[in-house]
Amino acid sequence: MSSVRGRDLSKYFGALRVLESFSFKAEEGRILCLFGASGCGKTTLLRLVAGLEWPDAGAVYLGDRIVSEPGRVLPPVERSVGMVFQDFALWPHMRVEKHIEFVLKASGMSKLERESRTDFLLELVDLENRREAKPHDLSGGERQRVAIARALATDPKILLLDEPFSNLDGELRKTVAEHIQSLKAKGKTILLATHDTAEVERLADKVVCMDGDPKTQ
Ligand SMILES: Nc1ncnc2c1ncn2[C@@H]1O[C@H](COP(=O)(O)OP(=O)(O)OP(=O)(O)O)[C@@H](O)[C@H]1O
Ligand SMILES: [Mg+2]
Repeated sequence: MSSVRGRDLSKYFGALRVLESFSFKAEEGRILCLFGASGCGKTTLLRLVAGLEWPDAGAVYLGDRIVSEPGRVLPPVERSVGMVFQDFALWPHMRVEKHIEFVLKASGMSKLERESRTDFLLELVDLENRREAKPHDLSGGERQRVAIARALATDPKILLLDEPFSNLDGELRKTVAEHIQSLKAKGKTILLATHDTAEVERLADKVVCMDGDPKTQ
């Protein structure tokens, strides 16, 4: 089971209450859009699901299993979750192809499999001819595509996409959107944070609006 559920999640940064008893459910094989204005907590929620932040109250479930609650958090690598970070979080010293290869190697894949999977992913995001480049030599859209390819590398069951289209132009938006739809068709569960209504209309099976009070759904 790869549904994702948050139950009564609270997250504070000092005195700032970012999430207050917030609940949601992303069904297996569906796209849940987290929609809301800047600062409402979309990235924080994705980081809680990834295991990169700890909740102050409540719990995160993957399927029926609690993976995060106060004082007990399953490490990110044990979650079968891929994340495209809003700021991409690329490794400055690493060439494009190495970003993918590094993740594949950590997952235990053989060299031959890694090479063919890396080729497939670079083709998918149209970066075959930039495979030798380092992040500082890439455009914003190219960096974003590296982040997308890296998140897809190990074929995770759950994908967390934080504003994944913000630097992509029309044709690439379409290609990446189609790929996200095809991942959904293969049963992936997708959480997509955005403040773009066009993205929501195009992709969402369900929308959680994170603005307003109480922040619940
Ligand atoms: N590590 C942190 N320490 C302190 N405050 C934080 C931290 N991370 C986020 N915040 C604050 O929490 C609030 C929610 O941030 P978050 O990044 O989750 O919003 P967001 O909905 O993703 O916004 P945007 O649409 O601009 O990306 C903001 O006020 C932010 O400044
Ligand atoms: Mg954000």
